[in-house]
Amino acid sequence: MELALVPWEEGFIPSVARYADNPKIAANLRDVFPWPYTDADAAWFVRDCMARDGQNVLFRAITADGACVGSVSVALGSDVHRRGGELGYWLAEPFWGRGIMTWAVREMCREAFAAFDIVRIFALPYAHNLASRRVLEKAGFALEGVLRQSVYKNGAMCDACVYALLREE
Ligand SMILES: CC(C)(COP(=O)(O)OP(=O)(O)OC[C@H]1O[C@@H](n2cnc3c(N)ncnc32)[C@H](O)[C@@H]1OP(=O)(O)O)[C@@H](O)C(=O)NCCC(=O)NCCS
Repeated sequence: MELALVPWEEGFIPSVARYADNPKIAANLRDVFPWPYTDADAAWFVRDCMARDGQNVLFRAITADGACVGSVSVALGSDVHRRGGELGYWLAEPFWGRGIMTWAVREMCREAFAAFDIVRIFALPYAHNLASRRVLEKAGFALEGVLRQSVYKNGAMCDACVYALLREE
């Protein structure tokens, strides 16, 4: 399988509409990523990535043999946090468990450190999201702490973990 991180294009909208409509993905993301996930949500997402890419944020589609199977992004902070970026990602369920996201996170961090004058990339997975936490650990991120009861998701409070990777690491 040939993997790549590529800029978003309109042709990826049907793949996003197909794969993002999954409650197991939405449950682990912020509420801005809805479920059910409609064709209109997919079109809005892809066009927003295309419009804002490079302006303090990098948006990449993850492709496997040319087909869009997921998303990864690094968004710069503002004010005193402007030399750090937040990582976010999701992968189509049929492709889980093959090391794809670990590869994508490593590759995206390389790209973001090269593109921006940042010293730190962080992610905030929910504490119960063990697969995502494992991805970050395999990609070299350190667990810095737990934001206890900081997230209200699907009607329940939960903890979030702070993971970060520094440029020199
Ligand atoms: C989290 C997600 C990105 C992982 O992608 P992936 O390509 O399957 O990840 P990888 O294959 O690179 O690595 C997954 C690791 O988690 C482990 N894992 C998977 N499910 C697990 C579980 N329930 N408990 C513990 N470890 C688990 C795998 O065994 C693997 O570790 P290993 O290589 O040491 O065996 C994907 O499941 C996803 O998109 N989930 C929904 C959205 C999401 O959670 N996004 C992140 C928000 S912070």
